[in-house]
Amino acid sequence: MCGIVGYIGKKDTSKILLDGLKDLEYRGYDSAGIAILQNSKFDIFKAVGKIANLEEKINLQYCLPCSTKETISLGIGHTRWATHGKPTELNAHPHLGEYSYVVHNGIIENYKELKEELTFAGHKFVSQTDTEVIVHLFEYYNNKLNDPKASFAKTVERLEGAYSILLITKSEPETIYFMKHGSPLIVAKGKEEGEVLFASSDSPLIGLSDAVVYLEDGVMGIASTTAITFNQEVSWGTLPSSKQFAQKDGFRFFMEKEIYEQSDVVTDAMLGRLKDNGIDFDEIDPSIIDGINEIKICACGTSYHAGLTSSYLFERLAKVRTSVEIASEFRYKEPLLTPDTLFIVISQSGETADTLEALKMAKAAGLKSIAICNVDNSSMTRVADATILTRAGIEKGVASTKAFSTQTVVLWMLGLYFAKVRGVMESDKLASELLALRETPKALKVFDHIHEKTKRLSKRYLHGHGFFFIGRDVFFPLALEGALKLKEISYLHAEGYPAGEMKHGPIALADPELFTIALMPQNLLYDKIKSNVEELSARDSTICAISPLAFDLADDFIKTNSADHYMLEFFEMLVAIQLLSMEISVRLGNDVDMPRNLAKSVTVE
Ligand code: AGP
Repeated sequence: MCGIVGYIGKKDTSKILLDGLKDLEYRGYDSAGIAILQNSKFDIFKAVGKIANLEEKINLQYCLPCSTKETISLGIGHTRWATHGKPTELNAHPHLGEYSYVVHNGIIENYKELKEELTFAGHKFVSQTDTEVIVHLFEYYNNKLNDPKASFAKTVERLEGAYSILLITKSEPETIYFMKHGSPLIVAKGKEEGEVLFASSDSPLIGLSDAVVYLEDGVMGIASTTAITFNQEVSWGTLPSSKQFAQKDGFRFFMEKEIYEQSDVVTDAMLGRLKDNGIDFDEIDPSIIDGINEIKICACGTSYHAGLTSSYLFERLAKVRTSVEIASEFRYKEPLLTPDTLFIVISQSGETADTLEALKMAKAAGLKSIAICNVDNSSMTRVADATILTRAGIEKGVASTKAFSTQTVVLWMLGLYFAKVRGVMESDKLASELLALRETPKALKVFDHIHEKTKRLSKRYLHGHGFFFIGRDVFFPLALEGALKLKEISYLHAEGYPAGEMKHGPIALADPELFTIALMPQNLLYDKIKSNVEELSARDSTICAISPLAFDLADDFIKTNSADHYMLEFFEMLVAIQLLSMEISVRLGNDVDMPRNLAKSVTVE
């Protein structure tokens, strides 16, 4: 993860870097820093925590007039999600050697060996990070060769892992060395003569540039006011014309706003795709399913839960064998991949390192692929054979909400699309599915009484020794999603479990201090889940039932509306568990939108 920015030009470098970092804060907010080189002098600022802390420091200490005069200056900046070493100022980027600074996004896997080697050669390390070896390695070679270009090339040759790097040296006040391998990096020409910008994603560049290169892995180069050179051919492209800004619009948190937006954004996700007589995806050719005997889905976190949900739908509706893999597991299990498998990745950001690498593996094995992504132009959209955008709009809350609902709706539609193309669905069944899909925006509406109820419940559901979210069928992945939401923003222990599996072990935990959130839909296996909840209630577990049907043994009850399709119940319950997690987090005084230890986009494996 982490976000990096760079700038060469005559404008206020500190402002450009800070603005860019604010756009990249979703990539990590453990610490941030910038290094500015002007008049052969470095100015360095670092702060622990969010960009606002860095900004405050810069505003207090920096002489702005010096940075706004008509001379060239350059700078690099970084917002960190800690991987190696605690989130302290010492471990914050940029990292200094003797005369050069580096910022890095990714992980240098062989940093220990390199550090030993360099320490032996007399280099002094001050941080616990993997990144610091880059700048020392560069100086090690440069001290020998006195050739920064060759030294930079030799440095990256020695690095193992994933990295995008920007490096500056005191002796070259108009030059930034860059390299991309595994982690994203974009280089851009500024609108003014000689101006160059870098960023981990395109949002910091929008409005500042008309020509960009989304670097491919293995591309390195040198940027200066006179030229940008690359080690291989690249293709220049353009950026979206305006930046999308997310505002809270009167809501307390982005997460709250995004929960309330779900009804609208799933409407967008269906627009032009949900037709009177079926589903149409302009983005994919129906032949993509030709010769396919299996679907394999790969994703992480919430996106994995959407994938798991869709595996029930693909098998049930499209009659295709479907398996779902957690991307970080998939990558190293030596999976058996055959070309009769369609590979689907799901990702809000389109940048999650494990999912992206899994996609590349599948492509290399000759599989056809589809990316279900929210961010257009993201890395996954550029690797997959086809992309279906989820159209959720910017999601700022680290805890995914509308990304999940739009992914699930898109995947449900995809299941119906495949069912039609494969000719495995009766027309009246298709008609009833389409009818239900049309009702989805309604199911995702936030009703005042549900929100109020979750606020009230949050008073009690704070203590105890844990939560179990339980459900069956698609309500099992929903239970996983409920538990994940609660864990990430409330820091309380929660597990999602298949309700029928509780008796095979976890029921031993049942007592009044165990909170069970039971997802009890009317239209799918109601009697089965009811028995499972009765078993827990008999062992004194505290039960909160989420259901349209009152359940005598429940201690608490969130009443959802009656619906005649289980997926509509699914979405109603989704809203309830999102709100419940959020209200518990609020009650605990946590940072709802930026929970501790997390980042919105996980670009390290
Ligand atoms: C969930 O709330 C998290 N934001 C996280 O689990 C997320 O879904 C995961 O990191 C995958 O991200 P992606 O969808 O951007 O690939």
